[in-house]
Amino acid sequence: MEHNSFFKQCLIVLCVSFPFLANVRNGGRFFHEKGVWNYTTMLLREDLNMLILGAREAIFALNLDDITVNWSVTNNEQTDCSYKGKDATNDCKNYIRILHKINDGRMYVCGTKAFIPTCDYMVSLINLTLEGKQEDGKGKCPFDPSQRHTSEMVDGVLYSATSFNFMGSEPVMMRSSEESIRTEISSTWLNEPNFIHMAHIREGESNPEGDDDKIYLFFSETAVEYDSYTKMDVSRVARVCKGDLGGQRTLQKKWTSFLKARLDCPVPNKNLPLLVQDVFHLCPSDWSTCVFYAVFTPQLDSSQYSAVCAYKIEDIKSVFSKGKFMAPVTIETSFVKWVMYSGDVPDPRPGACIDNHAREMGITKSLELPDKTLQFIRDKPLMDQAVKALGEKPLLVKRGAAFTRIVVATATALDGTSHQVMFIGTKSGSVLKAVNYGGEMVIMEEIQLFEPSEPVKILRLSNTKLYVGSDVSVAQLSISECGRYHTCLDCVLARDPYCGWDLNADQCSTINSTHRTSTVIQSLSYGDASQCPQIGTCIISLNLQTVCSGRNNKSNI
Ligand SMILES: *[C@@H]1O[C@H](CO)[C@@H](O)[C@H](O)[C@H]1NC(C)=O
Ligand SMILES: *[C@@H]1O[C@H](CO)[C@@H](O)[C@H](O)[C@H]1NC(C)=O
Ligand SMILES: *[C@@H]1O[C@H](CO)[C@@H](O)[C@H](O)[C@H]1NC(C)=O
Ligand SMILES: *[C@@H]1O[C@H](CO)[C@@H](O)[C@H](O)[C@H]1NC(C)=O
Ligand SMILES: *[C@@H]1O[C@H](CO)[C@@H](O)[C@H](O)[C@H]1NC(C)=O
Repeated sequence: MEHNSFFKQCLIVLCVSFPFLANVRNGGRFFHEKGVWNYTTMLLREDLNMLILGAREAIFALNLDDITVNWSVTNNEQTDCSYKGKDATNDCKNYIRILHKINDGRMYVCGTKAFIPTCDYMVSLINLTLEGKQEDGKGKCPFDPSQRHTSEMVDGVLYSATSFNFMGSEPVMMRSSEESIRTEISSTWLNEPNFIHMAHIREGESNPEGDDDKIYLFFSETAVEYDSYTKMDVSRVARVCKGDLGGQRTLQKKWTSFLKARLDCPVPNKNLPLLVQDVFHLCPSDWSTCVFYAVFTPQLDSSQYSAVCAYKIEDIKSVFSKGKFMAPVTIETSFVKWVMYSGDVPDPRPGACIDNHAREMGITKSLELPDKTLQFIRDKPLMDQAVKALGEKPLLVKRGAAFTRIVVATATALDGTSHQVMFIGTKSGSVLKAVNYGGEMVIMEEIQLFEPSEPVKILRLSNTKLYVGSDVSVAQLSISECGRYHTCLDCVLARDPYCGWDLNADQCSTINSTHRTSTVIQSLSYGDASQCPQIGTCIISLNLQTVCSGRNNKSNI
């Protein structure tokens, strides 16, 4: 393809066609553009029937008529960046890091732009077009492309957690609006954090306590609460209230509702806490049913296992609204130890959103909160109690390639029950598909997508597809690939809630609402294939293998 001539004609905005996801392998369709790397930012625009893909110096809109916009750094920007000591050919590029849809259908896009983070608006009409606004991206998008960051668009307002300066030493969680609010620059609030995920939960909707919407932030940071001479990291969840306007004198233009707690994912016989790597939330109905699924890996790379823990929003909420606080105590002259605070807690409770209780006290916005409440939260944002995992244990612990990302889909089985299906990306470029049946974790398949050691860096779900991004390419998979099971036995023993053996069609089919238990076989809890035709007999041998004789046979597990 004559890319260069296109670039010359179109100046900044380009429109290149190429066969979309042409390469089919391992049940996945792949896409990558020659010379373009780092496909690690995605936005699904189901309204436009497009996947917007952010890479290094390029944004793609993938559908049948593929479209690209080239957003590269200028030679001057690249030179300036390398004068500041950064690697010209890698760091001094524009890594697209933020892609959000805004209310009017446009998109908000930010890139690292050779260590001058910059944002712009983008429209997708016939082509992708950047509006050329070139807004300051400081505090929204990282300077350094290798730093983790997270952001969320909430009713047209950007919330972000990233570092605020060139050195990457000034972490911040902020809201960019007319009432711009951020965290204090203090290790008490954020202590060398690694930002992972942000989620907006509409807790304000018909809330009996008159509570506000929350923005949850998941990250890891250096711990202060352990007696340890070596540096130790912990996983955290923090949250702020959407309506927070900061304080009047204390905490001016700073969050008055920033609270954080430790996130426990207990794996037996491990001393050092695991660190959170990615989070996905699923809300079956209203906000009170939301569950956060998180993948964890050990902080010392030598241990080759990973875990998935889940957290109920109600459990997180109760730690913040009822739990004890921690407070720093100076021991000897300079050593500070954090211990449970057992003194008086001011009213309104520090960190609480403006709710009915505050309104009864005549406080209608955070600007009216008393200094006592504000000083307390400024000095003691950390909770003493940790948030416990659902069932107080991981849903899954697995040896092998480290988990990097997770998304979770809900599948409706043949009998109408709902099951949460987890798709987990790994450091070695594979995706695992796993489901929990009443405490028993079943890994249905592991699909190798990218070259070994090419880590999965992003996962996104649509209703029927899973999109997987890495530094080298992007893959699209069907979430229910039932056709890969050729026999009734394979189909039933896979225990995939999406699939069942259709006796009429004589094939493994994706379960739909018209299917009936009389014509389709599915056995999720037991993997019982005895109803399969001409199956012969199956016995469970002592080593828990299913051994069958007859026409269709298979060893499983
Ligand atoms: C859109 O892209 C096509 C090439 O794919 C080009 O011919 C056309 O002029 C572009 N339209 C606009 C409005 O830029
Ligand atoms: C973007 O355009 C510039 C200048 O026209 C070109 O050098 C560069 O290779 C293009 N980048 C991508 C990712 O296509
Ligand atoms: C971008 O991708 C290249 C090629 O795989 C990789 O070497 C590099 O580390 C990636 N950079 C970032 C910042 O992710
Ligand atoms: C359900 O699946 C069957 C094949 O197994 C197919 O014939 C039918 O059209 C599907 N129904 C819907 C609503 O998708
Ligand atoms: C499965 O069937 C084949 C013949 O189709 C037979 O050779 C094999 O021994 C059977 N395996 C088991 C485990 O029963």
